[in-house]
Amino acid sequence: MNIHIISVVPELLESPFSHSIMKRASEKGLLHITLHNLRKWAVNEHGMVDDYQFGGGAGMVMMCEPLVNAIEELNNKHSFDEIIYLTPDGEKFNQSIANNLSLKKSILFICGHYKGIDQRIRDHFITREISIGDYVLSGGELAAAVIVDAIGRLIPGVLNDETSALFDSFQDNLLAPPVYTRPEEFRTWKVPSVLLSGDHKKIEEWRYDQAVERTKEKRPDLLDND
Ligand code: ADE
Repeated sequence: MNIHIISVVPELLESPFSHSIMKRASEKGLLHITLHNLRKWAVNEHGMVDDYQFGGGAGMVMMCEPLVNAIEELNNKHSFDEIIYLTPDGEKFNQSIANNLSLKKSILFICGHYKGIDQRIRDHFITREISIGDYVLSGGELAAAVIVDAIGRLIPGVLNDETSALFDSFQDNLLAPPVYTRPEEFRTWKVPSVLLSGDHKKIEEWRYDQAVERTKEKRPDLLDND
């Protein structure tokens, strides 16, 4: 999968993709992430990419010209399946959107800053608008990092144990069941005996029941969704 990200502070995104699972994914050639500094397409030698908003009001707006030039140049080269704008007023990101995006071949993410981007870019170029939650970040970069991480780990071959993403929380609208590791007993607290039984059918039933219980207790809204 090819992911391109346009940002005015691409440095913010260097670290999240340079470690752990995301690093392994790019080393294995399964995920290529390219960061683009929007100032490359600035309208003047001062790196101008934003301007005052028409009608007055505090805060700058990212201008059409640099972003449209950037989007068109990159889209001509890479022909994106989706051009996604990260914004607090987009559809709220969840596991089902992550699953859907993980099947795409190439995605362009646009990180907004200040008051956002000129509406005409949204009207004419953006195929999808996504928010990572009901709060306002100072820019779309951290949202892009969250989404790319969630998508990247779903690409077959990225995780060592390929099946493990299938059992993540939210995959069946259920939270994941509790997990335990050695020792079997720590300060008198014992691991549930069923997990030590070797009976795989019983273990699966127990995990499913625990997942349902946990979801009922912590996120009953997930059970109403079906
Ligand atoms: N940009 C600013 N806030 C955001 C949010 N909550 N989700 C996605 N992009 C954003």
